Amino acid sequence: MKNLKIIVTRKWPKVVEQKLQEIFDTTLNEDDIPLTEDQLFEAMQNYDAMLPTVTDNINDRILSCSNRKVNFIGNFGVGYNNIDVDSAKKNNIIVTNTPEVLTDCTADIAMLLMLGIARRAYEGEIHVRQNEWVGWRPTHMMGTKVTKKVLGLVGMGRIAQAMARKSHFGFDMKILFYDPYFKNEKISKDLNATACRTLDDLLSQSDFVSLHCPSTTETRGIINNNTLSKMKKTAYLINTARGDIVNQIDLINALENKIIKGAGLDVYEKEPNVPNSLKNLKNVFLLPHLGSATEETREAMGFRVLNNLELYSNNKPPLDRVV
Ligand code: DGY
Repeated sequence: MKNLKIIVTRKWPKVVEQKLQEIFDTTLNEDDIPLTEDQLFEAMQNYDAMLPTVTDNINDRILSCSNRKVNFIGNFGVGYNNIDVDSAKKNNIIVTNTPEVLTDCTADIAMLLMLGIARRAYEGEIHVRQNEWVGWRPTHMMGTKVTKKVLGLVGMGRIAQAMARKSHFGFDMKILFYDPYFKNEKISKDLNATACRTLDDLLSQSDFVSLHCPSTTETRGIINNNTLSKMKKTAYLINTARGDIVNQIDLINALENKIIKGAGLDVYEKEPNVPNSLKNLKNVFLLPHLGSATEETREAMGFRVLNNLELYSNNKPPLDRVV
């Protein structure tokens, strides 16, 4: 007899879905159509555990529903700003996330964006595919050198540290960071990373600014007209964290008016909508939230959720409990 009735809100890698089905009484979402708010609400009343992902908005109405059965929410994702954690706490619902397993792949995408925008990879690709390339010439499609430049990390969690490692040891970059909560001097020393006292300090000295903080009331909109104007005119902004850390209208304005040189973005304010005014710009390199999107990582994320759920179902503390 399977002890827990669970619902998975989106399609997951097959191997993980099969394992979930072996262990639990599992409802999958084979069609991968996002559940509506009402369907999520109903699911809270019909299952013991819910496994949502970063696109499901698990709000207070859903978490506070009457006759609730769900006591465990295992989010498929390291970020959990899609869940109202204060409400989960108030309602005594356990919430877990999937840290560590996606660190390298997300940092790799940040590297890809940094290199891609600096070296004009997208423009070059289009050029070749559209048969516009007429041959090598000394002034053709010149970009910006990355090696030995200054990388400023906003947030110094695992993904930022991985990016610092790759950039410092791979590209000989000088690493700065701004993170008022990060105090690990050993890590800073190992990565040769220097703490900035203020965000403005970091912005004014960096050639590349890469965002790695969670989306919270403190960080939402911290990149805006005011902070963008503190960046070098030659600098680039990279965002693999969350879209709403950046005021998107202000960023478009800064890119259009050459306040900064360019941006590499994997995340957006209102995904999957990307405004035409952003898509029409040449000085952006845009990806569709691919940070953790490798087969290895997405499977590892699924198994990480499964592991937390198994611990919970055996009355043990889940490893990645955030509430
Ligand atoms: C996360 O895990 O938070 C990402 O944004 C999805 O990989």
